Amino acid sequence: MEILKTPQKALKYSKSLNGSIGFVPTMGALHPGHLELIKKARDENDFVIVSIFVNPTQFLPGEDLDKYPRRLESDFEICKRAGVDGVFTPNPKNIYSEDEILLKAPKIKGYILEGFFRPGHFDGVLQVVNKLFNIIKPTRAYFGKKDAQQLYLIKQMIKNFFFDIEIVEIETVRGKDGLALSSRNIYLSEKNRKKALTISKSLKKAAKMSIHINDIENIKKEMIKILEVDKLQYIAFVDRDFNYIDKIIPGNTIILIAAYVGKTRLIDNIWI
Ligand code: PAJ
Repeated sequence: MEILKTPQKALKYSKSLNGSIGFVPTMGALHPGHLELIKKARDENDFVIVSIFVNPTQFLPGEDLDKYPRRLESDFEICKRAGVDGVFTPNPKNIYSEDEILLKAPKIKGYILEGFFRPGHFDGVLQVVNKLFNIIKPTRAYFGKKDAQQLYLIKQMIKNFFFDIEIVEIETVRGKDGLALSSRNIYLSEKNRKKALTISKSLKKAAKMSIHINDIENIKKEMIKILEVDKLQYIAFVDRDFNYIDKIIPGNTIILIAAYVGKTRLIDNIWI
């Protein structure tokens, strides 16, 4: 497995590959959710490249950039075992320069929900993913439905900038108890993990209810009854293009939650 520490090395490496490239961008602290993306990439491509980069520009001041888990050595082991060909681990200095050209997320869909509570977050995500796509030049890139709004905006960027890259969407991987896997789950105490579980429980209940009723207010009330989080930021109902909806549309609805449990901010969603 090649470890590529600079954009120049990664560019040269990806250029040297003769065949399709599956690319999995991550911020590391790899868990079985990430592994699902890697496995799918392994199945569908001649070569697999994973990037591990805790991207500073997508963290807001006061967020967890400094304490975000970093476990490079064990991540390398996980990648090796999963049959990854190349791991790209740049550092911020060789990805970013001063006073550089900046991408802006769409004014509406980049600034609602996650973008409302984390203004500028998606500008940073798009900035780095754009760079990563240009360096790796993948045939296919793999993203999780766990970060539904991110996935939507990446697909938008592909369209708006005419990238010739296929985006592959992966189902959210959950623990046995239903909690969506996240690198941030390690921040949760046992007590808080129990509270966090009410997020996936309420989404499950909403999915069940939506088989029979399409009245969002009713569903929302039931979800709130189940939730035992410390601070609920939003429960939202959107279609697959992130337009707000006022009735469930079977096959074209995403229900999303963002909430704090203790100091940990968690997001989850369910596709209906
Ligand atoms: P990160 O949070 O490390 O996630 C990397 C990829 O793994 C994303 O596409 C995310 O949706 C997916 N993922 C995370 N948890 C998952 C789960 N439980 N099930 C399925 N997929 C899951 O998302 C980022 O990094 C960054 O924003 C990035 C795109 C790398 C840009 O910096």
